[in-house]
Order: sequence, then structure tokens, then C-alpha cells
Amino acid sequence: MKLPKAESYKIKMVETIHLSTRDERVKWIADANYNLFNLKSNQVFIDLLTDSGTGAMSDKQWSEMMLGDESYSGASSFYKLKDAIKDITGFDYFLPTHQGRAAENVLFSTLVKAGDIVPGNSHFDTTKAHIEYRNARAVDCTIDAAFDTTLDHPFKGNVDLNKLEDVLKSHPKEEIPLIIVTITCNSAGGQPVSIKNMREVSALAKKYEIPVYFDSARFAENAYFIKIREEGYSDISIRDIVKEMFKYADGMTMSAKKDAIVNMGGFIGFRHKDIFDKASVYNILFEGYVTYGGMSGRDMNALAQGLYEGTEFDYLETRINQVAYLGQILKDNGIPVQYPFGGHAIFIDVKRFLPFIPKEEYVAQTLACIVYLEGGIRGVEIGSIMADRDPDTGLNRYPELELMRLAIPRRTYTNDHMKYVAAAIINVYEKRHEIKTGLRITKEAPILRHFTVELEKV
Ligand code: F0G
Repeated sequence: MKLPKAESYKIKMVETIHLSTRDERVKWIADANYNLFNLKSNQVFIDLLTDSGTGAMSDKQWSEMMLGDESYSGASSFYKLKDAIKDITGFDYFLPTHQGRAAENVLFSTLVKAGDIVPGNSHFDTTKAHIEYRNARAVDCTIDAAFDTTLDHPFKGNVDLNKLEDVLKSHPKEEIPLIIVTITCNSAGGQPVSIKNMREVSALAKKYEIPVYFDSARFAENAYFIKIREEGYSDISIRDIVKEMFKYADGMTMSAKKDAIVNMGGFIGFRHKDIFDKASVYNILFEGYVTYGGMSGRDMNALAQGLYEGTEFDYLETRINQVAYLGQILKDNGIPVQYPFGGHAIFIDVKRFLPFIPKEEYVAQTLACIVYLEGGIRGVEIGSIMADRDPDTGLNRYPELELMRLAIPRRTYTNDHMKYVAAAIINVYEKRHEIKTGLRITKEAPILRHFTVELEKV
């Protein structure tokens, strides 16, 4: 018999979770104004809100926490992290930040001004918000294949080079401070970018003299997909693929809460000292001194260790296989999901799941609430609520895809949890014709509204 794949770790500590009753959940979701961020975590059974900061650290990471050096400046933990970043990514210069959006804040304060254009592949919500907050504009140049969830394409996160060149041609380079390539591309469904595409984007950017930065929250998962799917890479190690990937970037922002498997942390990597020097000023202003930037010494130690663990092939295979395990059950039962499955999450294509609810009634948020009612499972809307209003017209933006994301925390849940999640979603799918109406917004913030929005049933 062929031996099945099994997890590349065993469990040393557990945390109890409780399943509530449906009646309790009906009350709780109404009290939360139909915004899943407002739920208390003990009102959730399986929490797939995000894979960010929710993973389980290893025994080695916890022991590194004990070795943290809490000196204000020049801590050994800083140098440990600096060495790990250089070793894994190749970047000589780096600034620690407390998380990914803090890295964006520091980098964009350095590079982006009002009126600028920042092209990329489906920018993540905080990335876009940090651009628009500066009265600049993010232009989405993702390939069209990403928006057809039924299409089997190995690298749906790729940048469309024609779309990108159109942007680069139609604006002077002074108005395009950087190109951002998000690896893997979260908003497109956790979809990878091929190394060929990275190479081509880099060449195009050089031609127009524009720097390229990678939004690298899930760079290791991206490298895994390159190894598995891209011609010529099956025999190259993950670490070597990662090194090659970053050769095509001038720098990176990192939310270490994802692929470095820590609960808090982030950084910016730089190739060029002049930009690093400029950004250092903002880092001190917003984050903290340049050798800790919003992180304690113990956090930097755990992060350094996490960079190594997060780029191990066996770990990545376990991780991506678990996400695909959930995806496959859903797909086999006819649930419309983004295909191929994402690296960190399964994305339900809600326009195909609930085609009879108008987009004005926030169809993906509606489904997320119903899935919570069914099984105490918390997912998240990646749709028109998250897309915010157009800053120029004030009108709602309706993205091509209305997605409900089920993000899987790293090393946290078992495949029986995945089976439970799948069963709850299949139950909802079987009853979908009973769902006739959605939600309306009663209160919203001007930017990043999904975090605090309040809704009611139509
Ligand atoms: N870039 C990407 C691609 C992300 O997915 C995130 C966060 C960030 C940047 C910002 O990082 O949260 O550390 O400030 N994504 C989380 C998510 C929140 O649920 O996908 P952060």
C-alpha cells in the first residue's frame, strides 16, 4: 500500500474549543451587527477569519522567546533576525515593524505622494488603503484568468504584462514610485505568481526605471507552488527558489504573521541603502528605533526561527495539502470555489453560490453570516464591503469576484476540523434556495470599513 502523507509535526499543547447552539449564534451575530469581526472568539467554534497571527508556534520558537534580548538598541535578537532575513531573502538591509501594514506605512511614507499611481496584482486591502490614504491610486494589473474561478491556471496571481506596460507608458516615471507584486496574491484567492512572471515584471520595471517591491506575506507558499507547478523547478529547494524570487525585487514588505508563523511581527527588506536610510526616519517616527521597530527582542527571535521553519518543504507540503483537502471536499460536492485552491485559504465564489441575491445586498457577507449560524465557523468577506467606496465618486465599488474566504491558520486545526467545516458549508449549499435576501449597511467608516461596519438584515 502506498503510504499516505501525514503531518510533519506532532502536537504538544492544546486549547479547548466549544461548539455553541444555533440559538446562541442567532443572538450573537445580531448583537455583532452581522459583522464577524465583532464576535468574541469564544462565540466561534472553528475560526477561519484569518491565517494572520493565528498559527501555532513551534517548541523551538517558544524556546527562542526565552532567549530574546530586550535591549533598546543593538539587541542580539535584532542581529539574529537580520542574519535570518539576509540568509533567506538575500536583502542586506531591513527594518523591523510590528506587522505588515506598518511596513507599508513606513515604505509608502518614504516613496508615495499624492497623485501617484501604484500598479500591481490585486493589492491587499491594507496596501490599497495605505495608497489611497495618501491620495494616490492602486491600479490592478492581475491577469484576467484570476477572475474566472472555474479556470484551471497554475499562476492566477500573475501580473498581466500588457496591462502593466500600459500603465507604465501612460504616466511619467516620477508618478509611479513603485510596482507592488503580492506573493501569493491574497485578494485573487491566495494565488501564486510564477517566477517567470516575476522575472518579466522586473525586466519591464527596469526598462521604465521603476522599483519593484514584493508584498511577501506568503512568499514561502508561493515558492512551494513554483516548485510543484513551474517547469524546471521541481528539483530546486524551497530556499533556493525563495532566493531567486527575491532577486527580482528591489525590496519587500512582510507581514510575518503569515509565512513566518509568529503571532505578531513584520519587516521591510531593502536592496538599496539610500532608500533604507530614508525609510529609517519614518520607522523611528512610527514604529520604534531601527533595531526593534515595534517588536520586542523575543518576538524578533521567534520570527527569525519562523523564517526557517516556514521555508521547510515538509511543513509547506503539510500546510498546502490541508488547505487543498478542504477545497477538494467542497469542490467534489459542487461548491463553487476558486480553482486551483489557494495556498492559505479556500475562497468560495459567492456570485455562483447565491446568484439570486443582488450584489447591493453584500452577498459574500451574507453567506459568511449564514455559515457562522450553521456551524459556528467564522470566515471573512472578500467582496464589496472590503472593496470600500471609490475615493473619487464615493460610490460602492463592486469587485469582479465576491468571495467568502476560509483562511486556515498554520499548524492549528486537524483534518477532522476541515471535514466539519466542509459539512457545514455543504448543508448551507443544499439549502441555498431558501436564502432570499441579504444585508444592508447601517454604519461604516470611510476607509477599511469591513473591520467596523454594522449591518442589518434586508
Ligand atoms: N499584505 C497581504 C498580502 C496580507 O494578506 C496582509 C494581511 C497584509 C499585507 C497586512 O499585514 O495584517 O500584518 O498588517 N492579511 C491578513 C489577512 C490580515 O487576513 O489576510 P498585517
